[in-house]
Amino acid sequence: MFAGHDVSRLADRHGTPAFFYSASRLTANIDRLHAALAAAGLEDRSRLLYAMKANRFAPLLTYLKATGKVGIDACSPNEVEHAISCGFQPDEISFTNTSLSNNDLQRLTRLDGLSMNCDSLHAIRKWGELGRGRDIGIRVNPGIGIGRADNDKLHYSGANTTKFGIYKEQFHEAIALARQYDLNITKIHFHTGCGYLTPELDCWEGIIQECLWFVDQIETVKIVNVGGGLGVPHVATDKPLDLPKWAQILTRHFAPRPVTLEIEPGDYLVKDSGILLLTVNSIETKRDKCFVGVNAGFNIALEPAVYGLPFLPLPARPRPGATQRVSIAGHINEALDIFYHDIDLPPLAEDDGLVLMNAGAYSSSMASNHCMRGEFKEFLLFS
Ligand SMILES: Cc1ncc(COP(=O)(O)O)c(C=O)c1O
Repeated sequence: MFAGHDVSRLADRHGTPAFFYSASRLTANIDRLHAALAAAGLEDRSRLLYAMKANRFAPLLTYLKATGKVGIDACSPNEVEHAISCGFQPDEISFTNTSLSNNDLQRLTRLDGLSMNCDSLHAIRKWGELGRGRDIGIRVNPGIGIGRADNDKLHYSGANTTKFGIYKEQFHEAIALARQYDLNITKIHFHTGCGYLTPELDCWEGIIQECLWFVDQIETVKIVNVGGGLGVPHVATDKPLDLPKWAQILTRHFAPRPVTLEIEPGDYLVKDSGILLLTVNSIETKRDKCFVGVNAGFNIALEPAVYGLPFLPLPARPRPGATQRVSIAGHINEALDIFYHDIDLPPLAEDDGLVLMNAGAYSSSMASNHCMRGEFKEFLLFS
């Protein structure tokens, strides 16, 4: 069952490959986050911005808008315009991106109320040239990264120099540049990595401490955007993120400062709200491995192959019988195209439905048409 629906009937009715998203799980995830912030005394001092890069399916965005519980974090002009087409107003959207073209900036400058976070000296200069006297945010880079289980593919900051944000050593130059264009720095923004869970919370606290240096340099800062990155369990041994502890860390550091907090989660809101439903095409043992071939490839659900994030497979309707160790393989001619290596599953047969869990984020939104195998359907389910 998923979102109150029998998954194998969904496969019969709608075909595969198809992503299904649960509206009630989305709301539950948002409410849990709001409740943790409220319990930590931050209810009136925080707002959630959904990172739409995680999933931009229009019905899902429209539904999120209708809840009235989140704004949007966007990272391209197309995303901003898509969010507006789904009902969000520019003043509900915070924009953060790297490597902006003149055309990107001109499109963004037309939208009154959009909150702009400049992540480089170049962006400050260009934004200033397009209009003086506006409020801006500055994306900073604290030089510490965070990610699920120390997976450094998920780090946006750390020992290696990354392209994201302005480092400490250039921060005073950034302030001077903003002054030159009469720009008022009202926000400090940072996003240092993805998928963190409770074991990473000490690192999370260290990142906040480091970022307070930037906050405390500027008296005009009214908002601190602490990015996304909150993770969800991927395997049975992962425990859910300890949200009360996460929120208390925010309170500990921000209660004495008169700022509003923005949190821009993608994964945490949509990842476990979605599944990818596939069909088994073939089952064959080669040497010591039994491969279950399915009717989609890594190009429509990249995270297992590219980021090493496991998407647990489950039969849509388990058959009785002893479990068998199998590897789930896609239908693309690429060595990367394995969804899961060596998992014990109940018996499977050709044409059976197979579910990949946690496919709600960074799957459909990152899909490509590689090998002209890019087709899939998407559905938002109400129970
Ligand atoms: C600037 C920014 N904010 C928020 C997010 C959302 O991250 P997550 O989905 O891990 O919460 C990202 C993701 O890469 C990001 O780059």
